[in-house]
Amino acid sequence: MDNSTLLNLAGTFGTPLYVYDGDKIEEKINALRGAFPDIRIKIKYACKANTNISVLSLMRSLGVEVDVVSPQEMHLAFKAGFSPDQITFTSSGVGFEEIEECLAEGVLVNVDNLSALEKFGQKYGNTRPLFIRIRPNVQGGGNLKISTGHGNSKFGIPVEQKAEILRLVNQYNLNIVGLHQHTGSDIKDGETFLQAAEVMFELAMSFGNLQYLDFGGGFKVAYREGDAVTDMKDLGEKLSARFRDFCKAYGRELELWFEPGKFLVSESGFLLAQVNVVKNNPNGTLLGLNTGLNHLIRPMMYDAYHDVVNLSKAGRPAEKKYNVVGYMCETDDIAKDRDLPETAEGDILAIRNAGAYGFTMASNYNSRFRPAEVLVYQGKEYLIRERETLEDILKNQVLITF
Ligand SMILES: Cc1ncc(COP(=O)(O)O)c(C=O)c1O
Repeated sequence: MDNSTLLNLAGTFGTPLYVYDGDKIEEKINALRGAFPDIRIKIKYACKANTNISVLSLMRSLGVEVDVVSPQEMHLAFKAGFSPDQITFTSSGVGFEEIEECLAEGVLVNVDNLSALEKFGQKYGNTRPLFIRIRPNVQGGGNLKISTGHGNSKFGIPVEQKAEILRLVNQYNLNIVGLHQHTGSDIKDGETFLQAAEVMFELAMSFGNLQYLDFGGGFKVAYREGDAVTDMKDLGEKLSARFRDFCKAYGRELELWFEPGKFLVSESGFLLAQVNVVKNNPNGTLLGLNTGLNHLIRPMMYDAYHDVVNLSKAGRPAEKKYNVVGYMCETDDIAKDRDLPETAEGDILAIRNAGAYGFTMASNYNSRFRPAEVLVYQGKEYLIRERETLEDILKNQVLITF
């Protein structure tokens, strides 16, 4: 999306504002499909990345299905028009009642621990199909906070507990239709996926009724120009070849599933904010924005890098280094040491790569409103979330007057 469109949107809808480029989302979906032309693949969008129901609706219209991690996400998916058979609930240490709730709606459930497997067996036996999430003990992910497949991770059933898994599967005659793993986020090295896939292929041979293998999400996207990303074409070729070999050995053609979050929506998103204050400190110049970690926590939480563009000065050369900070009463760094054109109070900045884990991680901390959201698709702009008001902050609060 070009800078002048973004600037106009800031003018029309105000700031802070999340903007999503629906055409970019479509491009990413096509890129993923295009990397696996000869394989039956299914994209299960990991909607935790961005659960706006209009974004979900766009995904659905483009033939993408959905992976949810809570019953609430399941209900949002229903609202967006998904049917139960298009939804998978990947549970992670949840109470068993959440698994029951999703099963009651007819949603396929993915369990990540032996205790849940046993409870499932006791209650449902082989009356429902089931997915099992394994931990392949493969290190993958941009940093430890977003690595989920390694040997110390809480996620999935460690692959070395195969005997216990099989004991429960046999005891309750469980109908295991899929195996799942998600090794981490921001995985740029395709070898990591291939390594984890080998673990899954080997384990899969012990299950007789599989229909799907789910390799999770975690493809790395570019955060700045020239950034290394997962080479999808190379991964597609290599994984397809290995998957075909596996299916031959297994004796049945399975479906290959991915559940990307960031890959589909990160680059589509921009957080637009206004410069409240330019602070010329002796040790550097700060740009204080009308947003902060309450709206985009990734820089503070993960040291995530987000490119920043001054939309009001688009096209002008970078003249100066700035530190971009938020307005929260905390250390609230958004971007450090960025070369930008001379920036003034009132300028509108775009924080890029804000489509994933941006709004969904936003809060009302400092009792501030969360931003509005706009989706632009095929030349049309849609307000997909209204700006909050004080009513939203007060909703559910109970005033006891002492
Ligand atoms: C189970 C599962 N699948 C998929 C994803 C999506 O990861 P990413 O956004 O890196 O593609 C996540 C993210 O945490 C996850 O936990």
